[in-house]
Amino acid sequence: MDLRGRSFLTLKDFTPQEIVYLIDLAAEYKEKKKKGILHDTLRGKNIALIFEKTSTRTRCSFEVAAHDLGMGTTYLDPSGSQIGKKESIADTARVLGRMFEGIEYRGFEQAIVEELAKHAGVPVWNGLTNEYHPTQMLADMLTIREHFGHLEGIKLTYMGDARYNMGNSLMIACAKLGMHFTACTSKEYFPDAALVAECEEYAKQSGASITLTEDVDAGTKKADVIYTDVWVSMGEPEEVWAERIEKLSPYKVTKAVMDNAGEQSIFLHCLPAFHDLKTKIGKEQGEKYHFTELEVTDEVFESKQSLVFDEAENRMHTIKAVIAATLGA
Ligand code: CP
Ligand code: NVA
Repeated sequence: MDLRGRSFLTLKDFTPQEIVYLIDLAAEYKEKKKKGILHDTLRGKNIALIFEKTSTRTRCSFEVAAHDLGMGTTYLDPSGSQIGKKESIADTARVLGRMFEGIEYRGFEQAIVEELAKHAGVPVWNGLTNEYHPTQMLADMLTIREHFGHLEGIKLTYMGDARYNMGNSLMIACAKLGMHFTACTSKEYFPDAALVAECEEYAKQSGASITLTEDVDAGTKKADVIYTDVWVSMGEPEEVWAERIEKLSPYKVTKAVMDNAGEQSIFLHCLPAFHDLKTKIGKEQGEKYHFTELEVTDEVFESKQSLVFDEAENRMHTIKAVIAATLGA
């Protein structure tokens, strides 16, 4: 498997074999890390990390992964560079491509990261756009595989806003890897029909299936994985909160949902999560809209079935695999 020189923008660009290869490579790096075996085979190389939106996991994963591989990193924060304000994406790409061996981008439209990749001349990695979050998928799949021992045939139910980066990406990942994807949400939050059709094509090859339902009982019954994400994503306007709370509250992940899925079921969330009021935004919105927990109850979040911190750790191992494979470690 040779992924050298490739950008990592969406899983749509990768075959199931290539995706599994990256998950396998991440598992190898994880083992090396746990055993204290150094793997700094990219010494002397440097990567740029562009973040037009904030981050904890993705930024730290790229930085730690790069340092473990022996590389240097430069972080460009949401306000500290010329990007998009005084300098176009194409010009930025051509400048950074002369200095760095790879570029991570987190920001708004997928078209921006595509444009960056077109002009950079070095691999570009999508650290989250409005449409997709592909590095998160590798971490999620590694976590699911570690727990169940396999991916094929796993039934994953996504609850919440299934039209955005997480819903889209999980549907693609499941469709490519032979898993059964269900979007269980209010119908205005179903994924885009064109993307569903594209995923149906992948599903024909892999044996996957895609189900869209508003019925919580049917949609979560015997699910192996119950997955949710925040109801209001980064960059969305304040005005959407009221509507999201109204429409998505029936799709909150509760103990009743987990019990309906069964005791074999695990809970995943890309994080950060509003499972209590211990955050500034959670507290403000909670007071305004009278809630104490939002997309998932604290009980589920803190339960044994919740593997969210294994999942968060796996961000680093899987991002390391993407850097290593595309730069030829
Ligand atoms: N899951 C995720 O991408 O987290 P951050 O926003 O903290 O990077
Ligand atoms: N849908 C969320 C994912 C965060 C990792 C967002 O875009 O804010």
